[in-house]
Amino acid sequence: MKVKFRHPERVVDVAGPARVGDMLARLDVNPETVLVIHAGELVTKDVVIPDDAEVEVRPVISGGAGAAKCSTCRATAVIEIPRHRAAYCAPHFIDHVRSQVRDAISRHRMLSYNDRILVAVSGGKDSLALWDVLLDMGYRADGMYLGLGIGEYSDRSADIVRAYAEARGATLHTVDLAEEYGYAIPETTRLRNRSSCGVCGLSKRYAFNRIAVDHGYDVMATGHNLDDEAAQLLGNVLRWQTPFMARQSVVLPATDGGMAKKVKPLYRLGEREMAAYCIVQGINYIVEECPMVGGNTVLRFKEALNELERHSPGTKAQFLFGFLDRVRPQHFEGADTDAGALVACTSCGQPTTPSRGGGDAVCAFCRTRVHVLRQIGRRRDAARAAVPEGVDA
Ligand code: FES
Ligand code: ZN
Ligand code: ZN
Repeated sequence: MKVKFRHPERVVDVAGPARVGDMLARLDVNPETVLVIHAGELVTKDVVIPDDAEVEVRPVISGGAGAAKCSTCRATAVIEIPRHRAAYCAPHFIDHVRSQVRDAISRHRMLSYNDRILVAVSGGKDSLALWDVLLDMGYRADGMYLGLGIGEYSDRSADIVRAYAEARGATLHTVDLAEEYGYAIPETTRLRNRSSCGVCGLSKRYAFNRIAVDHGYDVMATGHNLDDEAAQLLGNVLRWQTPFMARQSVVLPATDGGMAKKVKPLYRLGEREMAAYCIVQGINYIVEECPMVGGNTVLRFKEALNELERHSPGTKAQFLFGFLDRVRPQHFEGADTDAGALVACTSCGQPTTPSRGGGDAVCAFCRTRVHVLRQIGRRRDAARAAVPEGVDA
């Protein structure tokens, strides 16, 4: 049968005979939002339509018909943002992103135009978009890329980041985890008390801070967005991890001991907005997720929040902003006291918390690195032992 749609006008072929309800399901149309007309008569979802018929599917939700219009200029919109009850054309969408970043920066005094900023760029949409927005807004922002050694995924992200820096004429620092610290992320599986994602996060924080401090940057900026922050908060609340809640913030001040100031200027923008920003700006980014991310609980929290958001837009933002604006200042400000008591790690000199027993303080990164290197050594020995004699390994 021929199924005719309005706004925009198009005709789709569907094999018949078929019930109206099944036909709509096959076309992924919600029956609540349309009327179906056959031979000049309205038909309900259980009516069977013959194969040689023509039917019209007419949208009925007022305001829902036709393409959305930009809330600012009434041109055809490219994206709708239900949370703001808004839709934007491409140029006004870019304005929207910049104004959210500007708002984040001024509310939390994240950056000044004199600051030298180091942006942690992974090749993903968020960090590249962040770098792009900051450069366009006139900030002095350099990038840093950490090579994690995750096969083709890392190779391609490195190429993407390099190409972006080159195209913008921006400064990029590149550090290779294996070259600098002796291990790649795929070699960190099956450790006793940390997942490879855990080691990855720890390595990233360590390496970025090190470059920021060594090169005298004033601030480090990361691409954490609204979805990341809300998911992390949900995880912390569900398990009542109050020490983590005390530390969850969109701006962490520098410490005397040598921790750079850290800011998250994208915390007011969702994941979908960041992807749209890259598409509108023509920024090439790595679309697939890290192959080591499977089973990550943060992804489940994001899904749960998206489900809530679908039914009541704005939930995610209210959840996170309520915490940042009201709960955190009232209940957690000053609770994060570790920062005041940092000492230098006896192995690498980077700041860490003093050891509880009063012995040598070794930072979490150095401790983990020792385990990882030991494990790599053991695996190499085992592999060597498994090679039969007379074979050149
Ligand atoms: Fe760190 Fe995937 S990016 S484990
Ligand atoms: Zn517009
Ligand atoms: Zn250390």
